[in-house]
Amino acid sequence: MESAPATHARRFSTRIAVAAAVWAALAGAACGPRSPAKHLVGFSQCNLGEPWRVAMNAEVAARAKDFPDLEIVFADAQQDNAKQVADVENFLRQRVDLLMISPNEAKPLTPIVERAFKSGVPVIVIDRGIEGDSYTTFIGADNYEIGRQAGAHIVELLQGRGSIVEIRGLPGSPPAVDRSRGMHDAIASHPGLQIIHAPVANWLREEAMAQMEMALAAHPHIDLVYAHNDPMAVGAYLAAKAKGREREMKFIGIDALAGLDGGRQAVADGKLDATFVYPTGGRQAVELAARILKGEPVPHRVVLETEKITRAAPGAPR
Ligand code: FRU
Repeated sequence: MESAPATHARRFSTRIAVAAAVWAALAGAACGPRSPAKHLVGFSQCNLGEPWRVAMNAEVAARAKDFPDLEIVFADAQQDNAKQVADVENFLRQRVDLLMISPNEAKPLTPIVERAFKSGVPVIVIDRGIEGDSYTTFIGADNYEIGRQAGAHIVELLQGRGSIVEIRGLPGSPPAVDRSRGMHDAIASHPGLQIIHAPVANWLREEAMAQMEMALAAHPHIDLVYAHNDPMAVGAYLAAKAKGREREMKFIGIDALAGLDGGRQAVADGKLDATFVYPTGGRQAVELAARILKGEPVPHRVVLETEKITRAAPGAPR
């Protein structure tokens, strides 16, 4: 009989093979000899378990088709810092001409990004930052500003009084810190607004459900849930609904992904009161890569726009 670790390893490698095949198809990469593309770009994604990440990869693959000079190879770190470091090391061994990376957490990924950059490989950091300044360009939306806008929306909704549950993303990823700080600053001058519970759910819907169950058990009344992304906001909504308490409170998330499972639909369905557009930056990252590889100068920081989405103001389709 096969041992448990062997079974796990086999299942895992099957999953990797399936994921790789899907990505090869999406990126239009044919099997067989490598295409004569001039530039090899390694894209290290921190996970592909979340729909927002899948959307980012799809944007990268779609835009890359307009640049036949670029060949993009994808790696999925599966939310594991050590695997992401190994993925980047692997790209460096393959002598990529440029590295694109959306880091899982800032601190553990900083040394390898620094090493790549200092060895002369241009680096584009997407959405989650690293520490220090050793990269060519960072692209992403302003998470502090999104948090601030969410806080302003909370003040307006609750008219300055009420109890708030804040469900936080992975603490080592800068958007979780900035989305929290922005919201706290925006409500600071309203002492009637209180954060009564602030669990970490690591960006994940299932973890948010479990955390929300505990919040519901501990607090007989909750006015609002602010979650750092839409999957966690929907997870909290589902936990409240299971207890028949979803009408007692409002839910706010971030991402505003299109599609049936996305935050926009959750707003349209009345599950979330509001969400904020958090563009993936995938399309723009490919455009920046093309410019860098042509030797053109690019800004050190590219800030993408956000937008508040509510039922009354559903925003322009994207
Ligand atoms: C996906 C995600 C998004 C969130 C972003 C923050 O991994 O959790 O939902 O907006 O990361 O980096």
